[in-house]
Amino acid sequence: MNNIKIFTEENYSELSRRSAQIIKTQLDAKPASVLGLATGSTPIGTYEELVRLYKAGELDFSQVTTFNLDEYFPIAKASDQSYVFFMRKHLFDFINIPDEKINIPNGEATNHAAECDEYEKKIAASGIDLQLLGIGNNGHIAFNEPADYFPSVTHYVKLDDTTIKANSRFFQNENEVPRHALTMGIKTIMQAKKILLLASGAGKAEILCEAIFGTITPKNPASVLQLHHDVTIITDKEAGNLLIPRQ
Ligand code: GLP
Repeated sequence: MNNIKIFTEENYSELSRRSAQIIKTQLDAKPASVLGLATGSTPIGTYEELVRLYKAGELDFSQVTTFNLDEYFPIAKASDQSYVFFMRKHLFDFINIPDEKINIPNGEATNHAAECDEYEKKIAASGIDLQLLGIGNNGHIAFNEPADYFPSVTHYVKLDDTTIKANSRFFQNENEVPRHALTMGIKTIMQAKKILLLASGAGKAEILCEAIFGTITPKNPASVLQLHHDVTIITDKEAGNLLIPRQ
């Protein structure tokens, strides 16, 4: 387990502060870092803290490149449910990252296979220095759902019923949740130099514990992180309830 550092924080604000500090350390060391970014409710506090640090003059994103993990498919970029919209709302509209350095899978692409191929090639060309991750209730990372094998590269995926249900809280009703998405694959994620996984709330405690200490299996996609050489996990008290903190 030397490859996994676990921080169990008192609450969500502390989790978010620690997470933003780790990203700041990365950017201080390498201002032209390539960051892999995540959506979902868990990283919102981290993004708020990054915006605060930027406004305080402690962070500069002018040389940063970002790759988001995933996007619904199909979805209009202008839709308030798109991950393009989410990233603008929570981060990009408030920092000095140049538009051309922002990468998010195109939910409007006419050919999803070509879009995935192009996205994967673009990531491969620059590599990812630090990949931020959340974890789904079913152990998914990005939109890599539990399966019989670990999906490799960026691909088109059918969402699990459990994911559709979980994400319906952001939509008017469950029927509006797109049934498909474009997502980085497990290999894409595993090639990042460093991984930072955030988990908040009691609902994530069991799946996270199984992912870190249980069998490595595509039935719990996050379990593959046991094979990565540099993973930091930050939880709040509830999500870290079943883990042994190492601070
Ligand atoms: C979403 C995203 C994931 C995210 C996960 C957890 O569906 N595709 O990248 O980690 O679900 O979301 P939350 O943080 O809201 O629990």
